[in-house]
Amino acid sequence: MTDTFSFKVHATDGTARTGAISTPRGEIRTPAFMPVGTVATVKGIYPEQVRATGADILLGNTYHLMLRPSAERVAKLGGLHKFMRWERPILTDSGGFQVMSLSGLRKITEKGVTFRSHVDGALHEMTPERSIEIQGLLGADIQMQLDECVSLPCEEAEAERAMRLSLRWAERSKKAFELQPKGRALYGIVQGGAVPRLRIESARELAAMDFPGYSIGGLAVGEPQEVMLDMIETVEPHLPKEKPRYLMGVGTPDDMLEAVARGIDMFDCVMPTRSGRHALAFTRFGRINLKNARHAEDSRPLDEESDCPALRDYSRAYLHHLVRCEEMLGAMLISWANLHYYQDLMRGIRGAIAEGRFEDFRRETKEGWARGDI
Ligand code: GUN
Repeated sequence: MTDTFSFKVHATDGTARTGAISTPRGEIRTPAFMPVGTVATVKGIYPEQVRATGADILLGNTYHLMLRPSAERVAKLGGLHKFMRWERPILTDSGGFQVMSLSGLRKITEKGVTFRSHVDGALHEMTPERSIEIQGLLGADIQMQLDECVSLPCEEAEAERAMRLSLRWAERSKKAFELQPKGRALYGIVQGGAVPRLRIESARELAAMDFPGYSIGGLAVGEPQEVMLDMIETVEPHLPKEKPRYLMGVGTPDDMLEAVARGIDMFDCVMPTRSGRHALAFTRFGRINLKNARHAEDSRPLDEESDCPALRDYSRAYLHHLVRCEEMLGAMLISWANLHYYQDLMRGIRGAIAEGRFEDFRRETKEGWARGDI
């Protein structure tokens, strides 16, 4: 165990890298997928089970937790790790993105953003300083600066305004973060819409501020995959090689393979759990929609070779039946299976990079998805 935050690249294969982030709460093997635990729960899965899938770190949300049960209450109860019974690292998002996508009636000024809660309509103010204070009260190991994310497509002038505001908020977030205990890390967030010039400026300015890690935000917000990958390629050469890079809110298994190929180390996405609640399974054989009547008498499991019980031990017919009856166990099992598959993919990616066969792994994995299971 260490009492500081550090990152080490162990091997590279082209632009892809594998390594580890060390924190006082444990190691995060990279490339890493972080299951989303928005309101202090990975929906439908016990923390022990999440860990058993291979997750080293979870993501929590400032926006949701400040509204319910409040950062002060979580702090009073001993912090987020103790509250939700997850002793390993937790990364929290700053709230900027969630305010934009979830709250009603918001107003952005230089100072911060005022918004109405989606829960009870109450008025709240979020500033860079308050966001960092909340993330500190929660006890997050990796924290995010407050930023403004624009949805795509977006006018260049609007993307530029939001990017520059995010840079000024990065400075203020960094200053506020200095009050926190050692061993925690604050990441800057690259913005700039789909404009290469703005993305490069954002990455360079943040790199000059010397953050312990860098996030790429404002992607997977409605643009085609090609645009997202172009933006990663644009930004990557301007981020320090010796620091972790986190692609926020991404993505599908294919998005992650392609982003790893372009130098990304960390991901989070609601997709495995949200899709699990909507009967969609991600597997080695591609996506399987368990609502479909073709599974009604299929006695095969999702993947007989998996070492996850949810993938290996329950028949597709049974999962289909649970989904049809809207039984919560259906959502729980498919979410579990999806999280396991996501972590299996990350294990495969890390192993392939370490052995210098990432290109073959990428091709074979995609062939598996395309071939299907029948
Ligand atoms: N999650 C997904 N995209 C973003 C982003 O641009 N900013 C923040 N703070 N969180 C995100």
